[in-house]
Amino acid sequence: MGFSITLQPDNLTFIAEVGETILEAATKHGHTLPRGCGDGACGVCKGNVLQGTVDHGKSTDIGLSAEERDAGMVLFCCAKPTSDLVIERREMSSSWDMLDWD
Ligand code: FES
Repeated sequence: MGFSITLQPDNLTFIAEVGETILEAATKHGHTLPRGCGDGACGVCKGNVLQGTVDHGKSTDIGLSAEERDAGMVLFCCAKPTSDLVIERREMSSSWDMLDWD
């Protein structure tokens, strides 16, 4: 069992297993999303949830402010789907977005 995630503006759909973050599921299915620390602190992976609900997991107020959260933004490295989702990634503008901090 898992949740369907549709990635906009690409209109690509993939499945996240229960307990998987959006970033983990996207990476597993070969989709590249902005990525920095992978730990909820830098905000590089920030994106919008257009439909559906998530568990914000280990998101920190440093990586995602309360105002951003209220506006429907999430940290893809932390957020775990709790329903099917439609999400919107932001454009990747530099190599900073692709750093692998693991
Ligand atoms: S990659 Fe740093 S907060 Fe998600």
